[in-house]
Amino acid sequence: MITLGIETSCDETSIALLETSGISADTGTNIFENPISYRVLGHTTFSQIDIHAEYGGVFPVLAKREHSRRIVPLLLHVIKESGMEMVPLEPEKTDTDNSAELTSLITSILAEKEPELLKNLLESKLISHKINVSIDQIAVTNGPGLEPALWVGVNFARALGVLWNIPVIPTNHMEGHIVGSLLSSTEISSASNEWHPLLSTRFPAVALLVSGGHTELIHVKNIGGNDSYNVLGRTRDDAIGEAFDKVARMMNIPYPGGPKISELATAARENFSKNPGQTNPIILPRPMLHSPDLDFSFSGLKTSVLYLLQKMKSEQEKVGANETNTILQKDISNIALAFEDAVTEVLVAKTKKALDTHESHALIVGGGVIANQHIRTSLTALAQARDIPIFLPPKGISGDNALMIALAGALHSPQVQDAQKKTGDPAFSAQGNLSL
Ligand code: KG4
Ligand code: ZN
Repeated sequence: MITLGIETSCDETSIALLETSGISADTGTNIFENPISYRVLGHTTFSQIDIHAEYGGVFPVLAKREHSRRIVPLLLHVIKESGMEMVPLEPEKTDTDNSAELTSLITSILAEKEPELLKNLLESKLISHKINVSIDQIAVTNGPGLEPALWVGVNFARALGVLWNIPVIPTNHMEGHIVGSLLSSTEISSASNEWHPLLSTRFPAVALLVSGGHTELIHVKNIGGNDSYNVLGRTRDDAIGEAFDKVARMMNIPYPGGPKISELATAARENFSKNPGQTNPIILPRPMLHSPDLDFSFSGLKTSVLYLLQKMKSEQEKVGANETNTILQKDISNIALAFEDAVTEVLVAKTKKALDTHESHALIVGGGVIANQHIRTSLTALAQARDIPIFLPPKGISGDNALMIALAGALHSPQVQDAQKKTGDPAFSAQGNLSL
């Protein structure tokens, strides 16, 4: 079964072609018993980071424009990467009435909301050619995320669904981050046609999702079912990645500053470990560490950093200009370290509490922030201490990507396909606040 995955929820335009084997109607509840294998036929992500950097964050209207520009060429690229071929439709065999009807259907789906995408699609090979291998279904992120950005993917998927006459599966982005951590490899299959096993786990499990838009703890009863997920706790204000990025911005580190903060913290951590007598003079608060619930809050921590920086600046104004720079560099590294320590301690404590209070045979972690090595190591130590496996996204897909979306859709497909065969219409909408 081949699934085309489409992801446009934020500032990454991503397309993947995933082939799966072993998924059956009861996979959702029996993922541990039924081995599933897969191979990545093609996968490409275009990151808009450079475009948004000058605004200090993701600008929804710009994100939409970029998705509309990139998505058709990206799909064509992934089709080529997969070894599939586009063959011209033979004019004499083309039913002209039918193709005119198709074009008008596609136009009616895209004209109002996606004029640029419509133009790109109508001018592309996707209309004048067909693919020599059949794609069985399309999985597209329909939320949560930035609505104008989500709509591009959703409308594109609907248009392709009509063009190829295949089902479209609306897919939750957060479910994508959960199942993405069960991939054992993201390597694109070469000529050797290598299949990879989908990692299997016993359920229920606890999942921690940490990204630029979300910080959530979820009790996962199984994958792909209707009642699989129960949100145990979430951030009450900023998401953890957002807090990383905002703290970075206060220190003049360009968006998205999370990776740079992590780099500075790693260097400072190494420095302190080489000098055992020295400790970080900066200590930041651990918000909601001891609260009885499983919620998070990071905006107060961000404000603590702001006050600390203001205090440091006013103190340094009394010092000579030359010294100011050197003092600031060291202080910035120490703040990065203190910030990373504070958020990690809260994440680990809340995850531990979720594991203590909910039956769990595994810890699944997903989302862009898990690229952070200190958070990764600390959560791994937590799982080891409890003697349960931890599932982390393989390299290259901790951030947003269409591979995880294709997989989430494929795991849902037996039920969804049946439902869609009945309705015959993949009518669904983008939902910015879609919950698991
Ligand atoms: O999952 P993701 O790619 O997009 C969203 O759905 O938000 O996550 C992006 C977030 C950004 O806030 C980025 O700064 C953060 O993940 N991030 C990191 C690291 N790498 C990416 N935060 C801390 N340490 C990192 N190494
Ligand atoms: Zn994400």
